[in-house]
Amino acid sequence: MIINSLTVTDYRNIDYIKINPSDGVNIIFGENAQGKTNLLESIWMFTGCKSFRTKKDSELLGFEKEYAKNEIEFFAHGRQQTAQLVIDKKRTAFKNGIELKSPAELIGEFYAVIFSPSHLSLIQDGPVFRRGFLDTALCQLKPNYAKGLARYRHTLEQRNALLKDIQYHSELYDTLDVWDEKLSSYGAAVVYERILYSKQLSEHANIIYSGISDGREELTVDYVNNTGLYIEDPYEIKNFLKEKLRQNRREDIFNKITGIGPQRDDLDIKINGLSARKFGSQGQMRSCALALKLSEANIIKEMTDEEPVILLDDVMSELDIKRQDYILNHISGRQVFITCCDPATVLRMCEGKTFHIEKGCLV
Ligand SMILES: Nc1ncnc2c1ncn2[C@@H]1O[C@H](COP(=O)(O)OP(=O)(O)OP(=O)(O)O)[C@@H](O)[C@H]1O
Ligand SMILES: [Mg+2]
Repeated sequence: MIINSLTVTDYRNIDYIKINPSDGVNIIFGENAQGKTNLLESIWMFTGCKSFRTKKDSELLGFEKEYAKNEIEFFAHGRQQTAQLVIDKKRTAFKNGIELKSPAELIGEFYAVIFSPSHLSLIQDGPVFRRGFLDTALCQLKPNYAKGLARYRHTLEQRNALLKDIQYHSELYDTLDVWDEKLSSYGAAVVYERILYSKQLSEHANIIYSGISDGREELTVDYVNNTGLYIEDPYEIKNFLKEKLRQNRREDIFNKITGIGPQRDDLDIKINGLSARKFGSQGQMRSCALALKLSEANIIKEMTDEEPVILLDDVMSELDIKRQDYILNHISGRQVFITCCDPATVLRMCEGKTFHIEKGCLV
C-alpha cells in the first residue's frame, strides 16, 4: 500500500495541500496547531472508517467552507488506483472515479494504522479504550464486523429502553425473550471475532515486546469478559450469552441497563504475568502500546497481504531513543507518515522526505 499523491482541499484548517510522498518515511513538521494531525487524519479517512478524533463528519469540513475534497493516488492490490472523499455534512467516497454506496466500501481497499500519544490510554485507562482498539482494528479488517457491531449496539439500546419501561409496564417482561435472542446472537458474532483477534494480537505483541525488552519480559494479551466465558465456538457463545442474560434479568431490570455482553468486556494485558495497567512502569506501558500498534499492522499484512500505511502522530518525542530505533526498524519496508515539531529528531535516525506545514499550507 503506497500513496503516490495526496491532495487535501478545505479539510479542517487545510486550505490546499498537494504532496507526492516518498515510499518510505515522510516527516510532516511544523509548530503546534498548524495542521499536522489534520493531514494525517485526512490520510486515515481513506480507510473508510470514522475519524480517530471525532464521530461527526461535519467537524472535518473547514470552517465556513462548502465541502472538503481529498484525493489519493495509491498502489494497492497489485494496481494503481485513486480514491476521493468529498465531505460536507457527511462523507461521499469514490474509488477509481466511481461513487461508492457508502464510504465504508473503502474498507479493505486502503489500510492504515495510526499511533498517537493518546494510545497510551490503551494500557493506562479504562476498558472502553481497549474495546475501541479491538473494534477499530476489526472494522478495518472485516466490513461485516462493523455492520454486526452496529446491529448489536442498536439492539442493546432497544433492550435498555425496554428495561426502563418494564417498571411501569410489567406486561412487557415477556418481550425480553425476543430481545435476548437477538442480542445474544449479535453479541456472539462480536465476541467471537474479538476472541480470535485477541489471540493473534497476543502472539504478535509478545514477539514485538520481547524484542523491545531484549527478551527479558513476556507480554500476554487475553480477551476477558464479565461472564467468565472461555469458549471459541460462535454457537456456544450465543447460547452462553443468552443464558447469562436470562440469569441476570432481575439485576438488569433493577439497574435499568444490560450488565452482560461485549459492551462490558476488556483485554487483560500482562507483563510477566502481572497486569500492565496496575503494575507496569511508564516505560513498560509505552512499550506495550507500541507492541499492540505494531501488531495491528502485522496482522493486517498477515490477513490481507497488504502493508498498511503507518501514521505516527507525534509519538517519536514521547519515546526514548531505543524505542524510536525499534519502531523505525520495524516499519522499514512500509510507507510511513510521521508528524513532529522538530524534524531533526527523526532525520537523525533515518532518511525521509520532509514537509513543512504552517497554518494549513505547505511552506
Ligand atoms: N473543521 C475545522 N476547520 C478549521 N480549522 C479546524 C477545524 N478543525 C480543527 N481546526 C484547527 O486546526 C488546527 C490544527 O490542528 P492540528 O491538530 O492538525 O494541529 P497540529 O499541527 O497537529 O498541532 P500539535 O503539534 O499541537 O499536535 C487547530 O488549531 C484547530 O483549531
Ligand atoms: Mg497534532
